[in-house]
Amino acid sequence: MPETPPPTILVFDSGVGGLTVFREVKTARPDAAFVYLADDAGFPYGNQPEDKLIARIADVIGAAIARHAPDLIVVACNTASVIALADLRARFTVPFVGTVPAIKPACAQSRTKRIAVLGTQATVSREYTRALIREFASGCHVALVGSPRLATYAEAELAGTPATDVEIAGEILPCFLDEEGQHTDTIVLACTHYPLLAERFRRVAPWPVEWLDPAPAIARRVADLLRERPVAAVAGTQTIEFTSGRMPPPTLKKALAAFGF
Ligand code: DGL
Repeated sequence: MPETPPPTILVFDSGVGGLTVFREVKTARPDAAFVYLADDAGFPYGNQPEDKLIARIADVIGAAIARHAPDLIVVACNTASVIALADLRARFTVPFVGTVPAIKPACAQSRTKRIAVLGTQATVSREYTRALIREFASGCHVALVGSPRLATYAEAELAGTPATDVEIAGEILPCFLDEEGQHTDTIVLACTHYPLLAERFRRVAPWPVEWLDPAPAIARRVADLLRERPVAAVAGTQTIEFTSGRMPPPTLKKALAAFGF
């Protein structure tokens, strides 16, 4: 019987944030052929109108499907997932794994029942996110914090031009609430760019909290969907594409090398 070849997995984000998801998925499927697609020509997604983004994401992903015929697509972007996942699933037959704010596990693990969801302005204002809160956050106070700048700071961090501690602190401080002696103890990283700044966040946080990164759960979901194609004993491949067609500058190239590109 001919062996099934390892799967081709497309990992998509508006920029380099989805690399934080890619590295976990790659650990789960080291045999896969990965294509990482950054729609940097459309970055940032977080403060753009919904209808424009839905059309753009469908175009970019449709063209990538035609080029690479992926077996599975990971939308490694909360903003794109909460806005466009339903449309993508209706348009294309390829299975999609999305990235949505990890509100359920955050509320379950919070001892003080005070959590924050830190995402782009688009992600925190979408009905999708509000529905997750209604469904999974009863008895838990949820602060929704939309950051206009953190995704850009994360891109800059990787490109070797980091934002200052004061700039970073200004974006994350609204997450930290102290109400009647009850502190926020869990913060959902609801943008895939933010784990790139995790060390910076820990340094400027007014008190220690759990930072919830959804990447391991996404990797488990991918492994589960591909369980019919057991991991082969071959090393996979990985390529990266930027919709701008630009050559990454040397500092970013070095950072990408740390992800195996
Ligand atoms: N990485 C994206 C997310 O998870 C968004 C960054 C942006 O383009 O604004 O939401």
